[in-house]
Amino acid sequence: VSGPTGSCPVRSGSATSVRVEAPGKVNLFLSVGAPGKDGYHPLVTVFQAVRLIETVTARRQSRQAHGRVSLVLEEPDATVPTDHSNLAVRAADLLAEATGVTEGVDLLLRKRVPVAGGMAGGSADAAAALVACNALWGTGLDVSELTALAARLGADVPFPLIGATAIGRGRGDTVAPVMTRGTFQWVLGLQQEGLSTPAVFARFDELSAAAGTRPVAEEVPGPLTAALRSGDPVALAATMHNDLQDAVVDLRPELAEVIRVAQEAGALRAVVSGAGPTVAALVRDAGAAQRVHRALRASGLCSRVLRTDAPVAGARVVG
Ligand code: C5P
Repeated sequence: VSGPTGSCPVRSGSATSVRVEAPGKVNLFLSVGAPGKDGYHPLVTVFQAVRLIETVTARRQSRQAHGRVSLVLEEPDATVPTDHSNLAVRAADLLAEATGVTEGVDLLLRKRVPVAGGMAGGSADAAAALVACNALWGTGLDVSELTALAARLGADVPFPLIGATAIGRGRGDTVAPVMTRGTFQWVLGLQQEGLSTPAVFARFDELSAAAGTRPVAEEVPGPLTAALRSGDPVALAATMHNDLQDAVVDLRPELAEVIRVAQEAGALRAVVSGAGPTVAALVRDAGAAQRVHRALRASGLCSRVLRTDAPVAGARVVG
């Protein structure tokens, strides 16, 4: 069995369960324009999939289950809903509705991406659920059809389907792969309390209005794609940017301190990831990762500090 781009889709009845992994992300670049009539902000972003992996196992139901989608967390977490407000449940429902499937599914979710951290963990769960149910039910949608469903679930859901490194346009949901070389090392400073993405965009609008500027989503700088192509973390650090960072730091002033600590400890550059509050620090090598990790932990400013590397593959069937 292979991933969404594979050539042998599993037909219904051939498996009792399908396990799929999908990655979280950091944003290397995020440029945001003024919101349209639908309230969404046009943006240009560069996503990179990190080795923090969500796992969704889709299991065929017993007959008594009446064709509903159920979700259980492998490790109970009061901050993650298991009802229809969970994006993975909505993903399974949307696929069933789009393909006429009536059989339902039991989903088991293992979370490794920080919740509400600006790393699209919920979006990875939705992407994984789409791929898992597509295989379990034998619905045979190809990656472009899954991507169209993903975009209906949320702006960040198409990216974890393709993973690696990609430019996102539109709402962030139109994704195209970017060539990269080698592996980049990241240290992530997490916060206990997540941030609401709409609240961050609203603060971005307020700050733009106060400054009397009309924001425009800028193209990805050439030096950034060149740095990715050559695998040069120093050059990449120099070109990283997040238009939402000021709004996020305005809501959480202590994040300015997190960024400062990471950079003073030797990070090439530390930025807020997406709509935050996770701070993503790019480091040159394992030694620097260790120093930044230690400094962030000692600062007491982060609830957890993680080391990871990137890019990694998008959603794929692993069992
Ligand atoms: O698409 P998703 O549900 O992830 O978006 C959550 C919220 O984030 C939207 O309701 C909107 O307020 C904001 N958003 C935005 N512009 C984007 C993406 C998200 O304003 N491009």
